[in-house]
Amino acid sequence: MATLEESKNLDSSLRENRVFAPPAEFAAKAHIKSLEQYEAMYRRSVEDPEGFWADAAKELEWFAPWTKVIDGQAQHTKWFVGGKLNLSHNCVDRHALGARKDKVAILWEGEPGEVRRLTYADLHEEVQRFANVLKGLGIKRGDRVAIYMGMCPELAIALLGCARIGAIHSVIFGGFAAHAISDRVNDAGCVAIITQDTSYRRGGEVKLKAIVDQALEKCSMVKNVVVYKRSGSPVEMKEGRDIWWDQAMLAAGKECPAEWMDAEDPLYLLYTSGTTGKPKGLVHTTGGYAVQTYLTSKYVFDLREDDIYWCTADIGWVTGHSYVVYGPLQNGATVMMYEGAPNWPENDRFWKIVDDHKVTVFYTAPTAIRAFTKWGDEWVRKHSLASLRLLGTVGEPINPESWMWYHREIGKERCPIVDTYWQTETGTIMISPLPGATPTKPGSATRPFFGIVPEVVTRSGEPVPDGQGGLLVFRKAWPSMARTVYGDQERYEKTYWSDIPGSYFTGDGARRDADGYYWLMGRVDDVINVSGHRLGTMEIESALVAHPKVAEAACVGRPDDMKGQAIAAFVTLEGGQEPSEELRQELRQWVAKEIGALARPDDVRFTDALPKTRSGKIMRRLLRELATTGDVKGDTTTLEDFGVLAKLRENEE
Ligand code: WT7
Repeated sequence: MATLEESKNLDSSLRENRVFAPPAEFAAKAHIKSLEQYEAMYRRSVEDPEGFWADAAKELEWFAPWTKVIDGQAQHTKWFVGGKLNLSHNCVDRHALGARKDKVAILWEGEPGEVRRLTYADLHEEVQRFANVLKGLGIKRGDRVAIYMGMCPELAIALLGCARIGAIHSVIFGGFAAHAISDRVNDAGCVAIITQDTSYRRGGEVKLKAIVDQALEKCSMVKNVVVYKRSGSPVEMKEGRDIWWDQAMLAAGKECPAEWMDAEDPLYLLYTSGTTGKPKGLVHTTGGYAVQTYLTSKYVFDLREDDIYWCTADIGWVTGHSYVVYGPLQNGATVMMYEGAPNWPENDRFWKIVDDHKVTVFYTAPTAIRAFTKWGDEWVRKHSLASLRLLGTVGEPINPESWMWYHREIGKERCPIVDTYWQTETGTIMISPLPGATPTKPGSATRPFFGIVPEVVTRSGEPVPDGQGGLLVFRKAWPSMARTVYGDQERYEKTYWSDIPGSYFTGDGARRDADGYYWLMGRVDDVINVSGHRLGTMEIESALVAHPKVAEAACVGRPDDMKGQAIAAFVTLEGGQEPSEELRQELRQWVAKEIGALARPDDVRFTDALPKTRSGKIMRRLLRELATTGDVKGDTTTLEDFGVLAKLRENEE
């Protein structure tokens, strides 16, 4: 576990005094126009949460009303008890059958350059047809359906089609390897998987269907594979199991009424890394998630009727679920979607898209911003970016220099920046500026969203004075929080609700300043954040140990200018095995093949032994220090064998 001391060291470089008030012109037109208005609404949201959330929920359509807004507390809280609704209805029908029928819902650009526009009416038909395709395969309410696709409109249609019939989707990011797919599919007991032939990425093709074929060798529950034809590249189709998306859509009826889902019925599973080797399937439910994705999108992105809204996240991550699909579509927004890499064919692809489609709201990750900075300002300056009015970031702390670059080069000092802090588990944005109301400070996620009660505490749960670092917890339950870990309620309670009794523990370090602003300081557990992607060190270690030549492995994150954190792996070999450069590369590749390229270790260091405590626990803290600074100065008193450390130090030289 990273110590708070370590987090504080990181934090001291982040002390920052600049303050940027919301531009007056922006504030005048915003949903929430002043700090006073935010504060009044915030006060109501925590003093009268039932009233506050009921009002928000009434902006959506319910098939049947709830009888109670909040029932129970902490991990046992239920929201909108007895209410019936459907997310696909609220994202699509509500607009398609109303004034937004001909408004573009999805504005998509493929990596090779083609453009498609689906209106809300188009989306309505596609989603209903696809829901009927699923029904035709015998898939029903409560069944789990895996989705492994690239960024194309059909991916959004797949999610909404599942939601329409009450099937629980489990999206697996298109960068994961076969092994990671089979683990997730088996854990969830998925009965079908939706994929595509290949997807375009950086001029090449990712062979999604072939990877699915490989994964399914180990998945006995999957009966069908629906294959969307994106590129037309040849794929094998297994008789009786695999069907083509387009053929099935033609044959399917174009009307499919939306299921009446209970507010607490599961909507989806999403796997994320934790501190053990096994990724956990967080369960998100329908009612609270609908209301909070709707409300955060409305206020944090200040959505207006004429916005072209672009969140660059892949739908494979929670950001894509909440802020490409469910949040903006419930608001009736026009959602920009782009298939490929930001540097294809050249480094200015994103800025070309912004100008070509007149994007107004742009939401991306700090790691992307660091890459743009590195590629050079000339790529940005070739484009006007005049349509932009609001910028956002998510995924990791943004360092003030990157924030300033974003503000200056992309926002032209005109666009507010919302640095949004949240997690897969929280479902929606928890701490963030409201762009017309909150003065921003570069590097701070600023203040809590409505209804959210953060606190910075010690390990025993005592509040820490402002200005000092501690652990970030949430004192009260909120509507969009994950309800459980699929099939493992005990792990859910233990991971999030037992460290600090009565509170949800985020796993992040933070401090609050005198203005009540939160400054995130990174994870304090064995979770690392590589380019905004979350990985458990144990997961990578398990993959390494599965290699026949590896005896033991320990992985740590070390700071990296581009990725935020890089992965350093310390490896001991089986008897008789010799370290070599070839083996080093083989092990890096091995992890990429087992989990996916995002988990490929940056360094692999061979060692005779790993530093352990007398009780046999690997002292990752020492390895982290070694990988970061090249030396170990921290406390080593619990080390069992000092010789190990001496050797590791020698290797550094
Ligand atoms: C972890 C959650 C939320 C969608 C993307 C990541 C870090 C996220 C911020 C931010 C500082 C941030 C935290 C958190 N994180 N946003 N604005 N400032 N840190 O979701 O994969 O569940 O990762 O990402 O460490 O715990 P995730």
